[in-house]
Amino acid sequence: MLEVSHLCKAFRGFKAVEDVSFLLRAGTITGLIGPNGAGKTTLFDTLAGRYRPTSGEISFLGRRIDTAPPYRIFREGLVRTFQIPRPFPAMTVLENVMLVPAGQAGERFWNNWFSRRAVRMEEVACRAQALEILNFMDLSTLAGEFAGNLSGGQQKLLELARALMASPRLILLDEPGAGVNPTLLGTIMDKLREINARGVTLLIIEHNMDLIMTLCNPVLVMAQGRLLLEGTPAQVRSDARVLDAYLGGVPA
Ligand SMILES: Nc1ncnc2c1ncn2[C@@H]1O[C@H](COP(=O)(O)OP(=O)(O)O)[C@@H](O)[C@H]1O
Ligand SMILES: [Mg+2]
Repeated sequence: MLEVSHLCKAFRGFKAVEDVSFLLRAGTITGLIGPNGAGKTTLFDTLAGRYRPTSGEISFLGRRIDTAPPYRIFREGLVRTFQIPRPFPAMTVLENVMLVPAGQAGERFWNNWFSRRAVRMEEVACRAQALEILNFMDLSTLAGEFAGNLSGGQQKLLELARALMASPRLILLDEPGAGVNPTLLGTIMDKLREINARGVTLLIIEHNMDLIMTLCNPVLVMAQGRLLLEGTPAQVRSDARVLDAYLGGVPA
């Protein structure tokens, strides 16, 4: 589904991502772990088109996307969530989900005068789909609430709901479990499993090892911009290099 080859992203000569290559198979849930500053978020930003790679190639569903703008990558079905959720706080939860589909008829000024019926029909369908997704995410009761009033964990669920509204093929999740209470974390894990079972491929950055070990296979490990290893959860857990990376490169 995704093929990353010798990817580099440097900031003024500082290599945040250096020579990273890996493959994501369709239908899998892949974990991405590594100490803070390893380059995980920068890798996501580069895959999603926020940054253009300094060098290297990215192919999604067989097509090169490494020079494509974010909106095009998004339209192809590669969608990401943010480490810190970014809803529109003064819009309701439902509105936040409804505005996801790109190119809605009502976005065109004149359509609201001359194609009112088409705009209306599309909005009805969009609302129905958004409500269905909110229901799936257990957020229906909060549909009319301002997004800014949600707890951190609920905002994480909303991030996921918004990603689903984009009919994604691949979702990049940046720390979906960070700052989430244990009950909600369980919910998020269940939802991720179910989303994957419906055919969506997932790549998950997460520090919570319980989530990584139960959901993800394979697991990729990054340290200092590089891919240190790829393996099964059991292989990664017992690899001395991984412990070493988390301890800051001190010889074990
Ligand atoms: N926009 C940027 N400009 C300069 N340096 C950056 C930028 N974004 C990230 N970095 C640096 O790149 C490294 C990797 O950061 P990041 O990708 O956020 O790591 P992680 O998500 O694994 O914690 C860090 O040293 C960070 O300071
Ligand atoms: Mg990060």
